[in-house]
Amino acid sequence: MLKFASRMDNMSASEIRELLKSASDPQIIKFSGGFPAPELFPVKEMKEASMKVFDELGSTALQYSSTDGYLPLREKLAKRMFDKQQIKTDAEHILMTAGSQMGLDFSGRVFLNEGDVVLLEAPSYLGAINAFKANQPKFVAIPTDDEGMLIDELKKAIEENDNIKFCYVIPDFQNPTGKVWSLERRKQFMEVMTDAEIPVVEDNPYGELRFEGTPQPSLKTMDPKGLVIYLGTMSKILAPGQRLGWVCAEDEILEKYNIMEQASALQASTISQMEVNAFMDMYNLDDHIKKILPAYDSRRKCMIAAMEKYLPEGCKFTRSEGGLFTWIEAPESVDMKALQPECIKRGVAYVPGAPFFPNGGGLNTARLNYSAEPEERIEEGIKIIGDAIKEVL
Ligand SMILES: Cc1ncc(COP(=O)(O)O)c(C=O)c1O
Repeated sequence: MLKFASRMDNMSASEIRELLKSASDPQIIKFSGGFPAPELFPVKEMKEASMKVFDELGSTALQYSSTDGYLPLREKLAKRMFDKQQIKTDAEHILMTAGSQMGLDFSGRVFLNEGDVVLLEAPSYLGAINAFKANQPKFVAIPTDDEGMLIDELKKAIEENDNIKFCYVIPDFQNPTGKVWSLERRKQFMEVMTDAEIPVVEDNPYGELRFEGTPQPSLKTMDPKGLVIYLGTMSKILAPGQRLGWVCAEDEILEKYNIMEQASALQASTISQMEVNAFMDMYNLDDHIKKILPAYDSRRKCMIAAMEKYLPEGCKFTRSEGGLFTWIEAPESVDMKALQPECIKRGVAYVPGAPFFPNGGGLNTARLNYSAEPEERIEEGIKIIGDAIKEVL
């Protein structure tokens, strides 16, 4: 009989990926993924950028390169982080990774021994929960409201738990809820973390996908003790297939991530880094983002309007100002997980919210993505979900 590591006992195939399999029929309206709209990818431009890399840097692009990552790209990212978010950093404090998922995996492996505590929002990103789980931690999920983590609950958790290794948060257009932390809550949160000297993993794939409202400052701009580990990614603003993300952190922490990357993958793809760098030289990434935002925005508006029209009374949902998701909280008596196979049968897939709560709960919730379906299908899909909820009620 094969004997696997005990960590595998806690890990299962992502429920979301399993679900996507069952909803692979193109007829099914998919609110289940977190995929950018493929028709908006800059295919022609990326091809030009790639050709330039092969013409000018061919054999270097196909070679191994440093673990830190391609310097011209790291310099661009450091500048971009300042221009967009006033984060003062430089290329030396950026480590390129294969998407921010790798940064999440490294966060777990750099900080966690079995039984150590991870603080996180309830609900939180399932991909992060699964990545951390490999290290067999204890999750302490802090309740949230529309402004972010509840500070009293956070303080209580810090008092009650030893061995807290880090706190994982997504303050901008959270996955799964689409919510944004308020400025005040960010300040209070960072005061508590700074006092307690707890590292913060700030995951920000969606911050630049803002349709309306005022951008809020990154936690990394409120970090006098250098505790914030910022994870960025090209996945939602350019293309996830490039598999490029980055970790921005202070020396002592970044060195550990670098050692982990050496052991794990040696480096992020040389050619992918060069292609994205060439794209940013040849074209304006902001212009591309300006192109995708209105398309996502009209899909978001369409979904919200359909929710207002078709969801029964007692259902709450997020009117997100950006990102890719809305979040339904149905009345307590509605089990969105149990309802989900029925909705797939009727032609629409969403992700039940319960798996996003690492310690249980959230049965009446669901995450809906609006970026990957055309508007007419969005309205149709929400009507099906609304009708299914009404029948249960
Ligand atoms: C909150 C969050 N973090 C990290 C990731 C991973 O993104 P990637 O590895 O493509 O950068 C995702 C992907 O959906 C996400 O929603």
